[in-house]
Parts: sequence; structure tokens; C-alpha cells
Amino acid sequence: MRIILFSGKGGVGKTSIAAATGVRLAQLGHRTLVMSVDPAHSLGDAFDLEGGLFHGDTSDPKPLAPNLFIQEVNIQREIKRHWNEISGYITSVLRTTGLGDVEAEEMAIFPGMEELSAMMYVNQYRRENRFDVIILDCAPTAESLRFVSLPTTLDWYIKHVFNLQRNVMKAVRPFVNKLGPIEAPPDSYFANIAGLFAKIQGIDTVLEDPAITSVRLVTNAEKMVLRETQRAFVYFSLHGLTVDGVIVNRLLPAEIHDAFFQQWRESQSRVLAEIEAYFAPVPVSQVPLFNREVLGYDGLLTVANGLYPGDTDPSAIRFLEKPYSFARSGDHYEVRLHMPFVQKGEIGLFKKRDELVVEIGTLRRHVGLPTTMAAMIPSKARMEDNVLVVEMRSAQ
Ligand SMILES: Nc1ncnc2c1ncn2[C@@H]1O[C@H](COP(=O)(O)OP(=O)(O)OP(=O)(O)O)[C@@H](O)[C@H]1O
Ligand SMILES: [Mg+2]
Repeated sequence: MRIILFSGKGGVGKTSIAAATGVRLAQLGHRTLVMSVDPAHSLGDAFDLEGGLFHGDTSDPKPLAPNLFIQEVNIQREIKRHWNEISGYITSVLRTTGLGDVEAEEMAIFPGMEELSAMMYVNQYRRENRFDVIILDCAPTAESLRFVSLPTTLDWYIKHVFNLQRNVMKAVRPFVNKLGPIEAPPDSYFANIAGLFAKIQGIDTVLEDPAITSVRLVTNAEKMVLRETQRAFVYFSLHGLTVDGVIVNRLLPAEIHDAFFQQWRESQSRVLAEIEAYFAPVPVSQVPLFNREVLGYDGLLTVANGLYPGDTDPSAIRFLEKPYSFARSGDHYEVRLHMPFVQKGEIGLFKKRDELVVEIGTLRRHVGLPTTMAAMIPSKARMEDNVLVVEMRSAQ
């Protein structure tokens, strides 16, 4: 199975490109699901479906064309299905602060729930071998980064906090229930968390396997958009995901001769050249600005025909190299992270338990070290052709 994630700055055309890719994959005979991971769903709109995507009480995949299914995760329904105990507990805590029922329920939907639910579906479909390709239409960059960092964050939480919390609760519950207006979480709350964790187990390995998961960044040929695209590239690499394509959308077509657009076209071609140079060897593809919105199956097919000419298969694997690797080098070990666009000064490194913590700007990644390196500490770091090389040596 393949998973292709479309990400990029707000409004650049992620949903349109993701949907068009789904249309082409289905035509090629792949059982394809296009799934929206963006809480502000617009997948149904891209396919121009009357009344959106929901049919009855379900957010199950909806068949659209031979081999083509689309799905938008309905958070209210997911809460009933997967989050009952957790949101029930949080709601009851919030109610004690004087909030009304509806407000408390609203507030019990916390950031990351949609993404986590989507991830459970991906894992379930993978186990069931239900689709050949799952296309993920992500929210703008910041949220899609939350999506990919969730499994490691949760893993960390379960390892370091969850069991501790559960044991502490067992010990203090008799007192807390007598004392406070706030109830201690019941056992079912912890059971719910453990159950959720089981449902996403293994997804991190799937997301980090370049033979399964690829990230395609959608961008426009504008300087500000390019900067965000570069940051996204770094962050995805930091999380171990492989970016294997950049799609530049809304390029002004050559047949426009209007003086007003002349300058726009010149600046677009400058930025396009920059994009190609920056991201090489990652292939950069182009999509022109159309004379109207790209809506409905036929509109999306037009995009697909330009983006994937002839028998180009969007699910073909282009890169198998992982963004980070571990190796032995002489008397020490090395962690190598593919990090283009990063200045050495922006990088923070430290060791915590058996993990190497890498910070770039405001983002942090815990890289689990193999047992051979777990007792070592980072002694030196250098940039080597877009690769951050961290030397690991024994502590003494
Ligand atoms: N190449 C194009 N030519 C003309 N219109 C386009 C093109 N690409 C996208 N659009 C239109 O631009 C609008 C925004 O596109 P889309 O919803 O795909 O962006 P998005 O990146 O998913 O946005 P969001 O960040 O809000 O999810 C839509 O109306 C879409 O039809
Ligand atoms: Mg979108």
C-alpha cells in the first residue's frame, strides 16, 4: 500500500491537487481513497458534491467513481466512536468550572483529535488491505506537522507519563474523590487512552517507510510561499518522512500578454528557478493557473492530465533513502539527518534518556537511538552537503 500526503501553505491548492491525483490513480486501476485530514473539510467541494460529503450518520468512505473513494473525518461522530471516555471525563471536569453542557462538550474537542482519528483509519485500512493508495489531503502546514508528529508524541507520552499517571491515580483516587470538586479520571479513561494507542500502533513505522509513505509539497511560485515550503521540507524530514515531490501550482500561462501580469510572470519564473535549484534532486512539477476554479470530476481530470501526462503513475516510488540514518564511523557512531535549508546555528541538540533530541526553530523531535548508541552522547555536529551529521561517543 502507498500513502501520499499533500501538504503546503494555506490556499495553495492542496485539496485540488490531492483530489486530481486520486482521480488519476483510480483511472490507472488502483483502489484509491482520498481522505481529508483538514478539520475545515473541502474535499466534497472540490468534487462539487451537492450538500457536501456526509450521507446519513456516517463518515465512511464514499464511492465516487470506479476505484475512487473519498472520506472526510466527522469529528462529532469520531468522539462517539473512539473518544467517549476521554471526552466524557474532560467534559465533566469542565462542567465543574461552571461551563454549560454544550460549551463543555465543545471544549472537550482538543487539537489533534481529528488527526488522530484519521490516523486510526489509515492504520485500519492498511491492516484490512482495503486500498492500494491512500491520499491524505492535509490542513495547512502547521497542522499537518502535528499530524505526523502525533505518533512519536503519543509514544513518548505513553512511555513516560501515562503509566506513571495511572499508578499515581490508583494511589490517590480515594483521597481525591473525597476532597476535591474535581474528580480523578476513572479507570475507563485510562483504558480508552490505551485503546486509542493500540489503534495507532505501528503507524509511525508506516509513515517513516519511504516505500509506503511519501510527502508531496504543494506551493505557489511566490517568495513567501517558498519560505514556508522550505520549512515544511525540513520539518517533515525531521520527523523521518520522505518528501519526494514539489508541485508548483497556479503558474501564469504563457499565452497571457497583459502588461499587468507581465511582472507577475517574470517574478514567478525567477522563483520557479529558485525552487528547482533548492529542492533538487526532488522532482518539481508545474500546474498552470486555469481560467476558472478547478471543480468537479472533470475539472480535476484536467489538472490530472497536465500533472501526470501519458501513463505517469503518481504512486510510483521515487526515493527510497530515509531522511535520517545511523552508522558507525571509525571509533564513533553517527546520526545523519537530511536537513537542507538549515543553518547550523538554528540547531539545538541534546540527549535525554535513550533519545537524541533535535530542535530546529520551535520544532522538536525525539529520535529514538538504537541500543548500541543509547548510552552515548552527542559530541560534535557538522553540516555536510545538506546532511546534519551528529557524532555520538561514549560518555566518559
Ligand atoms: N491551478 C489552479 N487554477 C485555478 N484555480 C485553482 C487552481 N488551483 C486551485 N484553484 C482553486 O483555488 C481554490 C483553493 O484551492 P484548494 O482548496 O485546493 O487549496 P488548499 O491549499 O487546499 O486550501 P486550504 O489551505 O484552505 O485547504 C479552489 O477554489 C480551487 O478550485
Ligand atoms: Mg484544502
